[in-house]
Amino acid sequence: MTTQRTQVAIIGAGPAGLLLGQLLHQAGIDNVLLEQRTAEYVLGRIRAGVLEQTTVALLERVNAAARLHTEGLVHDGIELAFDQQLHRIDFRALTGRGVTVFGQTEVTRDLMTVRAASGRSTIYEAADVSVHDFDGDHPCVRYRVGDAAHELRCDFIAGCDGFHGITRASVPERSLRIYEQVFPGGWLGVLSHVPPCHAELVYAHHPRGFALCSQRSPTLSRYYIQVPAEEALSSWSDTSFWDELRRRLPPEVADRVTTGPSVEKSIAPLRSFVAEPLRFGRLLLAGDAGHIVPPTGAKGLNLAASDVEYLSHALNEHYAEGSDAALDAYSERCLQRVWRAERFSWWFTSVTHHSPEATEFGRRLQQAELSYLVRSRAASTSLAENYVGLPMDF
Ligand code: FAD
Ligand code: PHB
Repeated sequence: MTTQRTQVAIIGAGPAGLLLGQLLHQAGIDNVLLEQRTAEYVLGRIRAGVLEQTTVALLERVNAAARLHTEGLVHDGIELAFDQQLHRIDFRALTGRGVTVFGQTEVTRDLMTVRAASGRSTIYEAADVSVHDFDGDHPCVRYRVGDAAHELRCDFIAGCDGFHGITRASVPERSLRIYEQVFPGGWLGVLSHVPPCHAELVYAHHPRGFALCSQRSPTLSRYYIQVPAEEALSSWSDTSFWDELRRRLPPEVADRVTTGPSVEKSIAPLRSFVAEPLRFGRLLLAGDAGHIVPPTGAKGLNLAASDVEYLSHALNEHYAEGSDAALDAYSERCLQRVWRAERFSWWFTSVTHHSPEATEFGRRLQQAELSYLVRSRAASTSLAENYVGLPMDF
């Protein structure tokens, strides 16, 4: 067994882990990243597409925003579609801010590039990763690469290993409180090299189920349709996906959908999940390892970014000033933002999605809520403020 030492061991090289690694590197804090998959596998996962300004600012800080600024698309609003019509929510007019549409894959690729240039260590294909002694002063991480066993001694462990990772699972059950709600059904997503059907994102409510028209570039589109929980991916051919998508969109949008072969097709669950607290001694959870939102509000990646901003700030205070005040406040600070995003994501999912359990009364309420949303300035402003996100508070 080899033994190595670092200040912060980061488990998981998704966006949370990579961003944290870079923020710590810039603060002169040594860190090692452990990832169970290959870099290619991580880049193959097609997920988020919408970045808040606070996330963009953070990527700028770590010098990973050059491509985001040239290739990302700044959107000043979204369209809500229902009753066969489009209703625009003008974020810029209502909040003075917009969002940037730029794929998580590309964010991850640029973070990998700056990581490689930093000279800090990233270990891909780390197997059997386990975390130990985080409730004492000398935590350590054990893992294997091939047949070789390794031990990484550290001051802190950052759990950035996503919802299915091992860090949260290593916390004794009695120390964790879990809040969870699963919305029936999931999102079937398709990525295709075709031009987007609309200039901005279209969130469509339809009796057959929700649909979302998103995009990655003028020649690459990302579409989603809500499908029942038990649905098998194999039961959706490209043709049946495009037909169902068009049925759920107003005619003016449906007519502009360009179809083509899918280059990626997957089903994502609609889950709300929060683990409390996010700190257990010297183990700190960040991103999807600690909380999940349904994708409707486009908040998951943005929450991962705000968690790691708080975490890097707290670790920096620990090393630079010898103060643990920010580490002590870490969990609560993150959770305030997390619960705000949970509320918004759940609400936006409930008003736009079809629920098989809904009564006729519930469906009429949903319609009333949508028409109130587009007619009331207060309601539109609330949607816009939540979608574009809050500034960070320190
Ligand atoms: P992950 O991206 O899950 O990364 C965790 C990493 O840890 C992975 O690379 C994994 O391989 C690794 N790992 C796991 N276990 C171990 C282990 N034992 N040892 C070592 N490594 C391990 N968010 C938005 O903000 N905007 C959007 O528009 C948006 N759209 C979405 C659409 C879909 C369809 C989905 C599914 C999600 C969407 N999200 C969106 C959510 C966003 O993708 C996630 O919140 C984000 O990926 C969280 O990043 P993370 O680094 O915390 O976790
Ligand atoms: C995406 O482009 O993948 C995307 C956009 C908006 C969302 C969710 C996903 O709310």
